[in-house]
Amino acid sequence: MRQGFKEMDNFKHRNDCRICGGSDFFKILDLGEMPPANAFLKKEDLDKPELKFPLVLYFCRKCGLVQLLDIVNPKVLFGGQYDYLTSASKPLVEHFREMAGELVRKFVESQDDLALEIGGNDGTLLHEMKNRCRVLNIDPAVNMTELSQKRGVPSISRFFSSETAEEILKEYGMAKVIVANNVTAHIDDIKDVFKGVEALLSDDGVFVFEAHWVGNLIGDGGFDQIYHEHLSYYSLTALKYLIGQFGLKIFDVELVPVHGESLRVYVGKNREVGSEVGNFLTREKEMGLDKEAAYADFSEKVLKNKKDAVGLLSDIKKNGKKIIGYGAPAKGNTLLNYFGITGETLDFITDTTPTKQGLYTPGSHIPVYPPEKLFEAKPDYLLLLAWNYADAIIKKEAGFREKGGKFIIPVPEVKIV
Ligand code: TYD
Ligand code: ZN
Repeated sequence: MRQGFKEMDNFKHRNDCRICGGSDFFKILDLGEMPPANAFLKKEDLDKPELKFPLVLYFCRKCGLVQLLDIVNPKVLFGGQYDYLTSASKPLVEHFREMAGELVRKFVESQDDLALEIGGNDGTLLHEMKNRCRVLNIDPAVNMTELSQKRGVPSISRFFSSETAEEILKEYGMAKVIVANNVTAHIDDIKDVFKGVEALLSDDGVFVFEAHWVGNLIGDGGFDQIYHEHLSYYSLTALKYLIGQFGLKIFDVELVPVHGESLRVYVGKNREVGSEVGNFLTREKEMGLDKEAAYADFSEKVLKNKKDAVGLLSDIKKNGKKIIGYGAPAKGNTLLNYFGITGETLDFITDTTPTKQGLYTPGSHIPVYPPEKLFEAKPDYLLLLAWNYADAIIKKEAGFREKGGKFIIPVPEVKIV
């Protein structure tokens, strides 16, 4: 059993908030039942039934956490293999290099200090710290811990929990620095993670984590960031409630440009709380992130986004034009399935990732081809599913627009450029 799942269960619904235990929810948005966003299909599986799960976003009226209550078994989501390679993304490598430098400068005092990363992937960040202190990567994906180990970063293939924390404590002692980037949103029993952090963190230690910010999601971030892997959409307001239940305090916070905007939160035991924490909580209050009204507005925006986009695509098809999808990111599948886009609208999608090429999108069953196929097909429009890279892609494909081709940017409001 892991993360409270019986071996055979594919999915469970919880009725209580994973932070505060409350059960008074505002239902923000129901995106319908859909397959996991990364469950690309092989041709021979197209006729078989797909596993589909509800994708519904809720707001907890007690602590303010925006969350999914329908939880897909990580085994179904990740299948033991995890493909996302941090070192494959140049901007992320640069981001973590800078973060590692800052952590060493601000918090590492001796070669004996222990820096631990939860979900450290292929060791990109710890690799940058390993000459300055002891390091340890805890990541459930065996293929990742093998890579990380090869780079000289000691690694353990485990889910991080309070139980894992006790074992690490016995073997390695207290940690001076604990890092967790883009993992807290994926974990259902997040309280158990903080219990483990509390046990492991030295009195003068620091726990730093980055998580996508809900203020970005409901602003320009795009509803397509919602998929089964992302269980929590954090505000600092909700995090304060969570962390306040432990002997821990948020002493600093900043926004970093990852996935649009992410929170970087600094947590300690006895550190003086900086003014930025109060400022940021005030900013969230002013944005209404602690009340359901802001989320109701978001929901209306998404409904309008869908209506406009579906209408536009159907007009284009009525005029006999050809549309091809550009990029097959996970979030593209939330969008395709929620908008009901199929092979009737998009002939195919191209993507640069070799492991996605030759497969079909989950739910919508659209083939994914390598980019070489793109211009052979002479499309009139490219639907930019990887719209977070709009600037770079439009620059790269300038030739397409010079010949009269147009991009459709679907989110947060559909537009043609
Ligand atoms: P990304 O947003 O990095 O990840 P996720 O799947 O987690 O949402 O995905 C971008 C996708 O778009 C990725 O599959 C690669 C693809 N892509 C292209 O095909 N061409 C491009 O020029 C770029 C920038 C991305
Ligand atoms: Zn709650």
